[in-house]
Amino acid sequence: MSVLQQLKWRYATKSFDKDRLLSDNQIQTLKEAFNLTATSYGLQTLKLVVVTDKSLRQELVKHAYNQAQVVDASHLLVICVQNQIDASDVESHFANLQRIRQTPDEVISPFKSHLTETISQMPEDKKLSWAINQAYIALGNLMTVCAMEEIDSCPMEGFITEAFDDELGLHEIGLKSVLLLPVGFRSETDFFSDLKKVRKDLSQTVIEM
Ligand SMILES: Cc1cc2nc3c(=O)[nH]c(=O)nc-3n(C[C@H](O)[C@H](O)[C@H](O)COP(=O)(O)O)c2cc1C
Repeated sequence: MSVLQQLKWRYATKSFDKDRLLSDNQIQTLKEAFNLTATSYGLQTLKLVVVTDKSLRQELVKHAYNQAQVVDASHLLVICVQNQIDASDVESHFANLQRIRQTPDEVISPFKSHLTETISQMPEDKKLSWAINQAYIALGNLMTVCAMEEIDSCPMEGFITEAFDDELGLHEIGLKSVLLLPVGFRSETDFFSDLKKVRKDLSQTVIEM
């Protein structure tokens, strides 16, 4: 199974098989893949919310322009950013790094001070867009892992983030939803599953210098 074969196998699944669930192992793989996603400075200011509860998801459908994937998929992954990014994130990252690598203080200190200052000077709107950019990297990573594991998925930004945040109680835990990734298995009747991929010719998207 080659990477390219799998990337051709995957598609933005519109209709999921409501009766097929991913195994705990498959969900664990997706959680770990999310956690292994590269982030700027390694700060990991993202969270993955895994929603299994069907009645909760039914309530979310109307806030996703009635896209049924939200409820029909096996699980709904919601990629979130923190509402606040500050020196405490730098602090906890370096504490973790020190715990895992036993890096001496004198090596860490200059970089930690530089990063704390950079973040303290960053305007709030810039911090938010910086975090959101990283949510997209996590989305791409998860989609590729899904393809490799033959898990169907549908990347989605077609939803009302504020309404999702209210329904899922994300404000209360300092988070803001950015992207959705319903995951599971394609329905046998999904019209989209047999359609040819529509992509530009490679010569139009790649420039050699
Ligand atoms: C960031 C992003 C947001 C998307 N949002 C939606 C969405 O809300 N609903 C949907 O059905 N598809 C959505 N798509 C799927 C794209 O339409 C689809 O990936 C694209 O047409 C290419 O088709 P393929 O993924 O099936 O190869 C989204 C894709 C991306 C990357």
